[in-house]
Amino acid sequence: MFARLCAAALALSLLLAAGPGGAQVAQKPLVRIAFGSCADQTLPQPIWDAVLAYRPQLFIFGGDNVYGDVTTADLRDLRTAYATARIVPGMARLRQSVPHLAVWDDHDYGVNDGGGEVRFKAESKALFMDFWELAADDPRRSRDGLYHAVTIGPPGKRVQVILLDTRWFRSPLKPTDQRDAPGKERYLPDPDPAKTMLGSAQWAWLEERLREPAELRLVVSSIQVVAEGHGFERWGNLPAERQRLLDLIRRTEAAGVVLLSGDRHLAALYRESAGTPYPLVEITSSSLNRPYHGSREPGPNRLGGVYGDTNFGTVDIDWWEGTVTLAVRDEAGQAVRRTAVRLEELRPR
Ligand SMILES: [Fe+2]
Repeated sequence: MFARLCAAALALSLLLAAGPGGAQVAQKPLVRIAFGSCADQTLPQPIWDAVLAYRPQLFIFGGDNVYGDVTTADLRDLRTAYATARIVPGMARLRQSVPHLAVWDDHDYGVNDGGGEVRFKAESKALFMDFWELAADDPRRSRDGLYHAVTIGPPGKRVQVILLDTRWFRSPLKPTDQRDAPGKERYLPDPDPAKTMLGSAQWAWLEERLREPAELRLVVSSIQVVAEGHGFERWGNLPAERQRLLDLIRRTEAAGVVLLSGDRHLAALYRESAGTPYPLVEITSSSLNRPYHGSREPGPNRLGGVYGDTNFGTVDIDWWEGTVTLAVRDEAGQAVRRTAVRLEELRPR
């Protein structure tokens, strides 16, 4: 086991080298990134064969990386979930051989749709940091939450990956008055300006990150950001916070933002232009092995239909052409939804 851990750590260190100002910079540009979310460790996970065949330079775990909803004070469920996930063959192979980053969502946080009120979140975070082998000097060890960022690649071809923590600080959501009614299945938008998605420390940190130089910024939010048309968890449940994010991108003049999300047990592509500094494209990929086949919902800013079978997401970058291609891929690795965006479009006007 020790040798396997070392191999994974070595792979990440080859990709990431310390650069000026503590930023993570390496010389080799990223052109192939894959990501996914919602991996149930109690069910088979055949999709990893396709993920590995795609040969990503980087894989991003977007949350619900295990299902360990907590029912006892010793967090037995979450501990068992991680112990089981550790020996899922495909995931283990990926963790050994592919540089990767991870952030959590509600089911590896420990409470369905949980937010800042969760009492055992420090214990849950410790289990996360252990499983994902965070280095002893990792900044996440010395602050609240699990938000994190790295920049990879040489000037002119830098990819900044920003992983947001949408759990640790989040205010309570406003419950629906009509469960399962289309558009308000679980929650209603709450305009209360005092409510927060990221919390003040993470917002300040995010502003600093967005002011750092990068040509492409993959902003990873476990829950959907610009998606409309449903009343499950999404940034639209706290509309002031959603707008704050769009305004922050505009104010910092942060070019190149593309949004990656999960959580929904369906996949889809979205493109939002209202209230944004430039068209914001979002790719949602979920689930790696626990699909929700019955998924149909309105999609006012969605590109095409939702995809309800197991899937992972890919980000292909053509630096010469200046294009980023986002794809949802099925269990065979075939693209079932795809859109492309030009980097020159992703600049505040
Ligand atoms: Fe999930």
